[in-house]
This record gives sequence, C-alpha cells and structure tokens, in this order.
Amino acid sequence: MNDPEALWSAFLAYLERAPAAGIPAELFAGFRDELIREGMPADRATEAVWGIVTMAADRRDWTAPMFDRIYASPEPGFSTQPSAFLVEVIEGRIAGSALDIAMGQGRNALYLASRGWKVTGFDVSREGVTVAQREAARRDLTFEARVAAHDEFEYGAAAWDLIVMTYALVPVTDVDFAATLVNSLRPEGLIVTESFVADPTRPPRPVEIDPDRLRRAYSELRILKFEDETTTSDWTHEPSRIVRMAAIKD
Ligand SMILES: C[S@@+](CC[C@H](N)C(=O)[O-])C[C@H]1O[C@@H](n2cnc3c(N)ncnc32)[C@H](O)[C@@H]1O
Repeated sequence: MNDPEALWSAFLAYLERAPAAGIPAELFAGFRDELIREGMPADRATEAVWGIVTMAADRRDWTAPMFDRIYASPEPGFSTQPSAFLVEVIEGRIAGSALDIAMGQGRNALYLASRGWKVTGFDVSREGVTVAQREAARRDLTFEARVAAHDEFEYGAAAWDLIVMTYALVPVTDVDFAATLVNSLRPEGLIVTESFVADPTRPPRPVEIDPDRLRRAYSELRILKFEDETTTSDWTHEPSRIVRMAAIKD
C-alpha cells in the first residue's frame, strides 16, 4: 500500500473495528500489526505508521473514532487521576466557574467538581463524555458535559475563572484561539495547560506544544508557574518532555 490516502483510509477503517485500547500508541501498534498480517514487511509497516502519525497532525477525522476506542477500554492506559499540576495550582483558590477543554473521560473536570467548582467540559469523543457523565452520577457530582469540538464551543466573554487544557488535542498555541480563551477568562482567571513537547526522535504528535509559542500566545497573561521537564506523563508509559503552564489574567 504505497498511496498515503489509501493507507489513511485503511487506518480509519481499522479504528472502526479495533478492540478498545488503553492509549493511542496501542492503536497505532495494532494497525502496524494488521499491516504485517496482511503481508507488509515489518520495517515498511513501521514507516507506514510513522507516516500516519505525521498525517494525523493535519487531520481531524481520526480523533473521535480513536478516543472512543480508548475511553471504551475497561483498563485505561493513561492516568485517571487529575493532573497533579492542576491540583497543585488550584490549591487554596476560591472555586468558581471552570472549563475543561478536550476533557476526555473527565479526570480533571470531575476533580474540580468534587472541589466545588462549577464545571463545564467538552470533548469530541462521545464515549469520553458518556464515561464522564456516568462517573459523575456514580460520585453524585454535578457538571455539564458536551460533545463538541474546540471550534464549535461558544467560549463567551469573561465567563470562566479557570480554563484547563491537559494533553488537549486542540490548537493551544494558535494566537487566535489563545485570544479567544483569554477573552473568555474573568479577571483573576487562570489558564492551566500541560502537554508533550516535540521529540526529534519521533514523528510530531498532534498534541505537542512548543514552549516558546505557548509563552508568546498567552503573553497577555502573567505566568504563575512554568515547567519544562522530562518525566513520565499522564498519557505515556515512558519518560517524555512535558511543558506545563499556569497563567493568570491580572
Ligand atoms: C490525550 S486526550 C486528553 C484528555 C484529557 N484532557 C486528559 O488530560 O486526560 C486528548 C483529547 O482531545 C480530544 N479532542 C481531539 N480533538 C478535539 C477537538 N477538536 N476538540 C475537542 N476535543 C478534542 C480527544 O477526544 C481526547 O479526549
């Protein structure tokens, strides 16, 4: 299979029938195994999957199918605990209105709700939203969850005391998107973000954040905390370079 579009279609078809998986890497590996089973030599299958990861950066038709498979897994491969950075940053702050962008299965949204925040969360994965709502009901927590993409959601103006984006597959450092988010923050409101930084040894992941672009995109805000370190992330099993920022609208 040499045609990149044919390969991409095969990948999308695979996602529709793939078994539930703990993290995205397992689904990419599963597709590689399928290519090998169909007769592709192993080194070409590795190259093909790296090509798919690269193509994914500019496409959106794979995100909901992939994350639906992940949130359907009874054994999540990512941390289901809230981001430790978020927990640290909100400690001692008065609970207000919070928005969790690309909330996944709601690990942060539910934590914030449990701490008295009035939380809205959204994600393109219907399965993620369903899991979050089910867990909220089980824990008797109230929060509003919607199936939506980052460019469909109405952020409003001066609406949020806290905006959270952890490993969010949205254009965090896009200047227009950042301006929309800053405008939607209340005075004293915080933006808290955390994700992978590019790794030159592997194809770029769509979820990566460039630390310099991050600072620039939110330069209107005052940075409270900025971390850039190699550590085990909430979404991988091996050490990765992670950037985290908490910034406030003075
Ligand atoms: C790596 S997960 C992170 C989930 C969650 N924030 C966390 O830290 O556990 C990336 C999430 O982005 C969601 N997503 C992808 N594209 C999106 C978009 N355009 N708008 C909103 N959510 C999106 C995916 O469905 C997935 O839940």
